[in-house]
Amino acid sequence: MIKAKNITLVCNWKMNPKTREKAEKLFSQTKSVFAGTRGLSVIVCPPIAFLPLLKSNSKVVTIGAQNHSAYEEGAHTGEYSAQMIRSIGVTSVILGHSEIRAAGDTNELVNEKIKLAFKGGLMPILCIGEKKRDPEGFYLHELKEQITVALSGIPRAKLSTILFAYEPVWAIGQAATRQTTPEECLESIIFIKKIIADLYDPKVIEGMRFLYGGSVDEKNAELFIKFGGVSGLLIGRACLDPKKLSKIVSSLK
Ligand code: PGA
Repeated sequence: MIKAKNITLVCNWKMNPKTREKAEKLFSQTKSVFAGTRGLSVIVCPPIAFLPLLKSNSKVVTIGAQNHSAYEEGAHTGEYSAQMIRSIGVTSVILGHSEIRAAGDTNELVNEKIKLAFKGGLMPILCIGEKKRDPEGFYLHELKEQITVALSGIPRAKLSTILFAYEPVWAIGQAATRQTTPEECLESIIFIKKIIADLYDPKVIEGMRFLYGGSVDEKNAELFIKFGGVSGLLIGRACLDPKKLSKIVSSLK
Protein backbone atom coordinates (compact mmCIF):
# COMPACT_ATOMS: atom_id res chain seq x y z
CA MET A 1 0.00 0.00 0.00
CA ILE A 2 1.45 3.34 -1.03
CA LYS A 3 0.88 6.12 1.46
CA ALA A 4 1.92 9.65 0.68
CA LYS A 5 0.92 12.74 2.59
CA ASN A 6 -1.60 14.83 0.68
CA ILE A 7 0.38 15.03 -2.50
CA THR A 8 -1.21 16.28 -5.71
CA LEU A 9 0.02 15.00 -9.06
CA VAL A 10 -1.09 16.62 -12.30
CA CYS A 11 -0.48 14.51 -15.41
CA ASN A 12 -0.29 16.77 -18.45
CA TRP A 13 -0.56 14.57 -21.52
CA LYS A 14 -0.14 17.58 -23.83
CA MET A 15 -0.97 16.50 -27.42
CA ASN A 16 -0.53 12.78 -26.73
CA PRO A 17 -1.24 9.93 -27.43
CA LYS A 18 -2.17 9.72 -31.11
CA THR A 19 -5.44 7.77 -31.04
CA ARG A 20 -8.53 7.10 -28.95
CA GLU A 21 -7.43 3.48 -28.36
CA LYS A 22 -4.06 4.58 -27.06
CA ALA A 23 -5.66 7.24 -24.85
CA GLU A 24 -8.07 4.73 -23.32
CA LYS A 25 -5.21 2.32 -22.69
CA LEU A 26 -2.99 4.97 -21.11
CA PHE A 27 -5.86 6.15 -18.93
CA SER A 28 -6.63 2.68 -17.66
CA GLN A 29 -2.91 2.04 -16.99
CA THR A 30 -2.72 5.37 -15.15
CA LYS A 31 -5.71 4.47 -12.99
CA SER A 32 -4.05 1.11 -12.15
CA VAL A 33 -0.90 2.92 -11.04
CA PHE A 34 -2.95 4.83 -8.47
CA ALA A 35 -5.30 2.05 -7.41
CA GLY A 36 -4.88 1.46 -3.69
CA THR A 37 -2.72 4.53 -3.07
CA ARG A 38 -3.50 6.80 -0.15
CA GLY A 39 -2.82 10.47 0.38
CA LEU A 40 -2.48 11.18 -3.33
CA SER A 41 -4.82 13.13 -5.53
CA VAL A 42 -4.23 12.87 -9.23
CA ILE A 43 -5.52 15.07 -12.00
CA VAL A 44 -5.14 13.60 -15.47
CA CYS A 45 -5.25 16.25 -18.20
CA PRO A 46 -5.71 14.64 -21.63
CA PRO A 47 -6.17 16.52 -24.91
CA ILE A 48 -9.63 18.03 -25.40
CA ALA A 49 -10.53 15.39 -28.03
CA PHE A 50 -10.38 12.63 -25.43
CA LEU A 51 -12.08 14.45 -22.55
CA PRO A 52 -15.59 13.08 -23.14
CA LEU A 53 -14.25 9.52 -23.46
CA LEU A 54 -12.27 9.17 -20.28
CA LYS A 55 -14.35 8.63 -17.17
CA SER A 56 -13.02 8.07 -13.71
CA ASN A 57 -15.17 6.80 -10.90
CA SER A 58 -12.18 6.71 -8.57
CA LYS A 59 -11.83 9.33 -5.85
CA VAL A 60 -8.08 9.49 -6.41
CA VAL A 61 -8.07 10.24 -10.14
CA THR A 62 -10.03 13.18 -11.57
CA ILE A 63 -10.01 14.73 -15.01
CA GLY A 64 -8.66 18.14 -15.94
CA ALA A 65 -8.34 20.07 -19.18
CA GLN A 66 -5.21 21.72 -20.54
CA ASN A 67 -6.83 25.05 -21.34
CA HIS A 68 -10.14 26.76 -22.12
CA SER A 69 -11.30 29.88 -23.88
CA ALA A 70 -11.15 33.41 -22.47
CA TYR A 71 -14.76 33.79 -23.66
CA GLU A 72 -18.01 32.26 -22.45
CA GLU A 73 -19.62 31.53 -25.82
CA GLY A 74 -20.09 32.90 -29.31
CA ALA A 75 -18.14 33.32 -32.52
CA HIS A 76 -14.81 31.79 -31.44
CA THR A 77 -14.17 28.98 -33.87
CA GLY A 78 -12.14 26.14 -32.44
CA GLU A 79 -12.55 27.24 -28.84
CA TYR A 80 -14.41 25.70 -25.92
CA SER A 81 -15.54 27.28 -22.68
CA ALA A 82 -14.99 26.46 -19.02
CA GLN A 83 -18.69 25.77 -18.62
CA MET A 84 -18.70 23.34 -21.55
CA ILE A 85 -15.93 21.17 -20.16
CA ARG A 86 -17.41 21.31 -16.67
CA SER A 87 -20.66 19.98 -18.12
CA ILE A 88 -18.88 16.83 -19.33
CA GLY A 89 -17.37 16.03 -15.94
CA VAL A 90 -14.07 17.93 -16.05
CA THR A 91 -13.26 19.44 -12.65
CA SER A 92 -10.02 21.37 -13.14
CA VAL A 93 -8.03 23.13 -15.83
CA ILE A 94 -4.38 24.00 -16.46
CA LEU A 95 -4.11 27.72 -17.25
CA GLY A 96 -1.08 29.76 -18.26
CA HIS A 97 1.02 26.80 -19.35
CA SER A 98 4.19 28.10 -21.01
CA GLU A 99 3.36 26.34 -24.28
CA ILE A 100 0.05 28.21 -24.41
CA ARG A 101 1.66 31.47 -23.32
CA ALA A 102 4.16 30.95 -26.19
CA ALA A 103 1.18 30.64 -28.55
CA GLY A 104 -0.14 34.03 -27.42
CA ASP A 105 -1.71 33.89 -23.96
CA THR A 106 -0.79 37.05 -22.07
CA ASN A 107 -0.97 37.49 -18.30
CA GLU A 108 -4.22 39.41 -18.84
CA LEU A 109 -5.77 36.52 -20.76
CA VAL A 110 -4.67 34.10 -18.06
CA ASN A 111 -6.44 36.34 -15.54
CA GLU A 112 -9.64 36.33 -17.64
CA LYS A 113 -9.47 32.55 -17.91
CA ILE A 114 -9.04 32.09 -14.16
CA LYS A 115 -12.17 34.16 -13.59
CA LEU A 116 -14.08 32.07 -16.13
CA ALA A 117 -12.78 28.83 -14.63
CA PHE A 118 -14.27 29.87 -11.29
CA LYS A 119 -17.49 30.98 -12.91
CA GLY A 120 -17.74 27.63 -14.71
CA GLY A 121 -17.02 25.64 -11.55
CA LEU A 122 -13.48 24.50 -12.39
CA MET A 123 -10.37 24.52 -10.20
CA PRO A 124 -7.58 26.44 -11.94
CA ILE A 125 -4.07 24.99 -12.03
CA LEU A 126 -2.12 28.18 -12.63
CA CYS A 127 1.30 27.77 -14.24
CA ILE A 128 3.92 30.43 -13.69
CA GLY A 129 7.61 30.36 -14.46
CA GLU A 130 10.43 32.39 -15.91
CA LYS A 131 11.81 31.86 -19.40
CA LYS A 132 15.41 32.24 -18.22
CA ARG A 133 17.01 32.29 -14.80
CA ASP A 134 19.53 35.14 -15.07
CA PRO A 135 22.15 35.63 -12.34
CA GLU A 136 21.03 39.25 -11.77
CA GLY A 137 17.59 38.04 -10.73
CA PHE A 138 15.58 39.93 -13.37
CA TYR A 139 13.52 36.77 -13.73
CA LEU A 140 11.96 37.61 -10.38
CA HIS A 141 10.23 40.59 -12.03
CA GLU A 142 8.78 38.24 -14.63
CA LEU A 143 7.40 35.97 -11.91
CA LYS A 144 6.02 38.91 -9.96
CA GLU A 145 4.26 40.28 -13.03
CA GLN A 146 2.76 36.89 -13.92
CA ILE A 147 1.36 36.42 -10.42
CA THR A 148 0.16 39.99 -9.90
CA VAL A 149 -1.74 40.17 -13.18
CA ALA A 150 -3.09 36.59 -13.01
CA LEU A 151 -4.56 37.25 -9.55
CA SER A 152 -5.94 40.70 -10.29
CA GLY A 153 -9.54 40.84 -9.06
CA ILE A 154 -9.38 37.32 -7.57
CA PRO A 155 -10.83 37.40 -4.07
CA ARG A 156 -8.74 36.15 -1.15
CA ALA A 157 -11.23 33.36 -0.41
CA LYS A 158 -10.54 31.80 -3.81
CA LEU A 159 -6.78 31.43 -3.37
CA SER A 160 -6.96 28.10 -1.56
CA THR A 161 -8.83 26.67 -4.55
CA ILE A 162 -6.07 27.49 -7.04
CA LEU A 163 -3.19 25.07 -7.54
CA PHE A 164 -0.05 27.12 -8.14
CA ALA A 165 2.43 25.31 -10.34
CA TYR A 166 5.94 26.74 -10.56
CA GLU A 167 7.20 25.68 -13.97
CA PRO A 168 10.44 27.32 -15.10
CA VAL A 169 10.25 27.32 -18.89
CA TRP A 170 13.94 26.42 -19.30
CA ALA A 171 13.34 23.14 -17.45
CA ILE A 172 10.25 22.00 -19.39
CA GLY A 173 10.06 19.34 -22.08
CA GLN A 174 12.64 18.05 -24.52
CA ALA A 175 14.08 21.52 -25.04
CA ALA A 176 14.99 21.79 -21.33
CA THR A 177 18.51 23.14 -20.89
CA ARG A 178 18.88 21.36 -17.53
CA GLN A 179 16.87 20.18 -14.54
CA THR A 180 15.85 22.54 -11.75
CA THR A 181 17.46 21.73 -8.43
CA PRO A 182 15.20 21.33 -5.40
CA GLU A 183 16.99 24.36 -3.88
CA GLU A 184 16.11 26.53 -6.89
CA CYS A 185 12.54 25.32 -6.66
CA LEU A 186 12.39 26.16 -2.96
CA GLU A 187 13.81 29.66 -3.57
CA SER A 188 11.17 30.34 -6.21
CA ILE A 189 8.34 28.97 -4.09
CA ILE A 190 9.41 31.23 -1.21
CA PHE A 191 9.48 34.18 -3.59
CA ILE A 192 6.03 33.30 -5.01
CA LYS A 193 4.61 33.04 -1.50
CA LYS A 194 6.08 36.43 -0.64
CA ILE A 195 4.44 38.03 -3.69
CA ILE A 196 1.07 36.53 -2.78
CA ALA A 197 1.49 37.51 0.88
CA ASP A 198 2.21 41.11 -0.21
CA LEU A 199 -0.82 41.15 -2.52
CA TYR A 200 -3.18 39.77 0.14
CA ASP A 201 -1.75 39.00 3.59
CA PRO A 202 0.74 36.45 4.94
CA LYS A 203 -1.93 34.29 6.56
CA VAL A 204 -3.50 33.42 3.22
CA ILE A 205 -0.46 31.29 2.32
CA GLU A 206 -1.33 28.66 4.94
CA GLY A 207 -4.28 27.28 3.02
CA MET A 208 -2.61 27.34 -0.38
CA ARG A 209 -1.08 24.56 -2.47
CA PHE A 210 2.07 24.79 -4.56
CA LEU A 211 3.37 22.36 -7.16
CA TYR A 212 6.55 22.01 -9.19
CA GLY A 213 6.69 21.09 -12.89
CA GLY A 214 9.48 20.73 -15.45
CA SER A 215 11.32 17.48 -16.29
CA VAL A 216 9.93 15.67 -13.26
CA ASP A 217 10.99 12.02 -13.39
CA GLU A 218 11.38 8.97 -11.20
CA LYS A 219 14.78 10.20 -9.95
CA ASN A 220 13.90 13.74 -8.88
CA ALA A 221 10.19 13.60 -7.90
CA GLU A 222 10.87 12.68 -4.30
CA LEU A 223 13.56 15.38 -3.96
CA PHE A 224 11.18 18.14 -5.05
CA ILE A 225 8.61 16.98 -2.52
CA LYS A 226 11.19 16.64 0.27
CA PHE A 227 13.27 19.75 -0.35
CA GLY A 228 11.51 21.88 -2.98
CA GLY A 229 8.82 23.42 -0.78
CA VAL A 230 5.96 21.91 -2.79
CA SER A 231 3.21 19.42 -2.05
CA GLY A 232 2.70 18.25 -5.58
CA LEU A 233 4.11 17.85 -9.07
CA LEU A 234 3.01 18.64 -12.60
CA ILE A 235 4.33 15.87 -14.80
CA GLY A 236 4.64 15.96 -18.60
CA ARG A 237 6.66 13.32 -20.47
CA ALA A 238 7.02 10.88 -17.56
CA CYS A 239 3.25 10.45 -17.19
CA LEU A 240 3.00 9.03 -20.72
CA ASP A 241 5.00 6.02 -19.54
CA PRO A 242 3.07 4.04 -16.88
CA LYS A 243 6.30 2.36 -15.69
CA LYS A 244 7.94 5.72 -14.99
CA LEU A 245 4.76 7.03 -13.38
CA SER A 246 4.62 3.98 -11.18
CA LYS A 247 8.24 4.53 -10.08
CA ILE A 248 7.45 8.17 -9.28
CA VAL A 249 4.50 7.07 -7.15
CA SER A 250 6.60 4.44 -5.32
CA SER A 251 9.27 7.04 -4.59
CA LEU A 252 6.69 9.24 -2.81
CA LYS A 253 5.73 6.65 -0.20
P1 PGA B 1 7.84 17.82 -18.79
O1 PGA B 1 6.59 18.79 -18.97
O2 PGA B 1 7.63 17.05 -17.50
O3 PGA B 1 7.83 16.94 -19.99
O4 PGA B 1 9.06 18.70 -18.70
C1 PGA B 1 6.09 19.51 -17.89
C2 PGA B 1 5.09 20.52 -18.35
O5 PGA B 1 5.18 21.05 -19.45
O6 PGA B 1 4.15 20.84 -17.66
